[in-house]
Amino acid sequence: MSSSISLSTKIAGSVLSSCLYNASGPLCSTAEELQAIGKSHAGAILSKSATLQKRQGNEEPRYVDTRWGSINSMGLPNKGYEFYAQFAQTAQAYDKPYFMSVSGLSHEDNLHIIKELANFENIAAIELNLSCPNVPGKPQTGYDFDQSRYILELVCAQAKQPIGVKLPPYFDMPHFEMMAAVLNDFPISFVTCINSIGNGLVIDRDSESVVIKPKHGFGGIGGDFIKPTALANVRKFYTLLDKKISIIGCGGVKNGADAFEHILCGASAVQIGTQFMREGTGCFERVAGELTDLMREKGYQNIESFRGKLRDIT
Ligand code: SIN
Repeated sequence: MSSSISLSTKIAGSVLSSCLYNASGPLCSTAEELQAIGKSHAGAILSKSATLQKRQGNEEPRYVDTRWGSINSMGLPNKGYEFYAQFAQTAQAYDKPYFMSVSGLSHEDNLHIIKELANFENIAAIELNLSCPNVPGKPQTGYDFDQSRYILELVCAQAKQPIGVKLPPYFDMPHFEMMAAVLNDFPISFVTCINSIGNGLVIDRDSESVVIKPKHGFGGIGGDFIKPTALANVRKFYTLLDKKISIIGCGGVKNGADAFEHILCGASAVQIGTQFMREGTGCFERVAGELTDLMREKGYQNIESFRGKLRDIT
């Protein structure tokens, strides 16, 4: 009875027919890339993180895929927020929500962008990126709890669209609790866990060299390497945040079983990054098919039947 199995979910008040969509990062910068996501089986379209002005980003090579995942130091190459805000019109052609990622280079930039976005229709929600590790000289705001509170105070007071936050990975229990205490004080709709693990180093043993050019080879790590960290962050924030805040899982999703694990930890939707970069938009249909098969095997008709129900060993 495959037809009765539903992957549908709701994020920030919008219904997604599939809980799987793209992470902000790969293949979501140009109109053609965003349209391709629109035409695919992805449940939503999420833009590349937008800055105030368009940016070239860091020097190349700046993205390398390895057997176990990826390293990138893209440096937020993007067409500027106005382009992504205007794309919301085009996105109406697709029967799915359009989410816009925002990553201003300063609090002032973020506030300016959020205020301007109030003039645009059809942006279903804003994912405020507090976690890009790749802009030289700019810290990841999500690691500074006071600064995170400050920007959320500014932004939440001005936003017309629902706000979500993309978080960096946390590794220490008190840090989860401190960030959750900040987030629970604001009317945010979702958190996305996690951005890449910042400032890893992948090296090529033969040439005895780093593999990407920016920042002497240091970059954000994605893919298989990071799934356990991503699952831990989804799980911990699922237990600590108010239930009105949805968790979106991101990290190490290559197949339906990986998506199932994120949902079991509490994710209401799952983003695909490194694997999307490898496979293109076909990944959304393939992973959805694998997730549906797994749910059928386990007797689950929808994601709410198992979402968050990870068991302890008793
Ligand atoms: C980048 O453009 O450097 C990646 C975006 C991010 O990690 O937030």
